[in-house]
Amino acid sequence: KLKAFIFDLDGVITDTAEYHFLAWKALAEDLNISFTRELNEELKGISRMDSLEKILQFGGKEQEFSEQEKLELATKKNEHYVELINKITPSDILPGIEKLLRDIKQANLEIALASASKNANMVLEALKLKDQFDYIVDVTKIKKGKPDPEIFLKAAELLKVDPSSCVGVEDAIAGVEAIKSAGMYAVAVGPKSSFQKADLVYETTEALSFKEIKERFEE
Ligand code: BG6
Ligand code: MG
Repeated sequence: KLKAFIFDLDGVITDTAEYHFLAWKALAEDLNISFTRELNEELKGISRMDSLEKILQFGGKEQEFSEQEKLELATKKNEHYVELINKITPSDILPGIEKLLRDIKQANLEIALASASKNANMVLEALKLKDQFDYIVDVTKIKKGKPDPEIFLKAAELLKVDPSSCVGVEDAIAGVEAIKSAGMYAVAVGPKSSFQKADLVYETTEALSFKEIKERFEE
């Protein structure tokens, strides 16, 4: 039986995935590493330091920096990112999300956030959405990032529901993988071709339908 929804944040609730991309792209260019939207797909859902490692690998420069320098690079990216998102307001909530959250609550189901971002609380506050979530998983306490299922399993544990009663909503390939490894039902947002592993794919957040997800989950 369906009991809870667990949401990713960046790229699902709001379009901050674009700002992460722009900030990484600027950093990559500073380092003379070419970084495309296609490569960016591999970064979605991945933690800050893991993302930096991937970018350095794309450029064949993973050996060139000390741990201290890597921390500085990641901090630089984050400062740029924070600057880019500093003007977000509730008008930046993606279409269809507020209705979906309302429909879930109306059906008396639980809602949690499973975001890899250390900025998640700040973003939810800026969107004025914090009250809509029963739990927000503290990513600083998670040992393994997506595609590991840990963050989704932690959310289910906090909600006190079995993973098999949960729907996870993601825009990242690593995120969908994490949801499936957690034994949950995976709803992906994005192009159908990218999400063979998802149980249900919507091209846009606007198309998300609580009724349809519930029906398909129960099939
Ligand atoms: C994820 C994003 O939600 O959070 C990634 O999809 C991002 O792109 C990651 O790198 C970590 O975010 P932050 O804000 O902690 O750097
Ligand atoms: Mg995402």
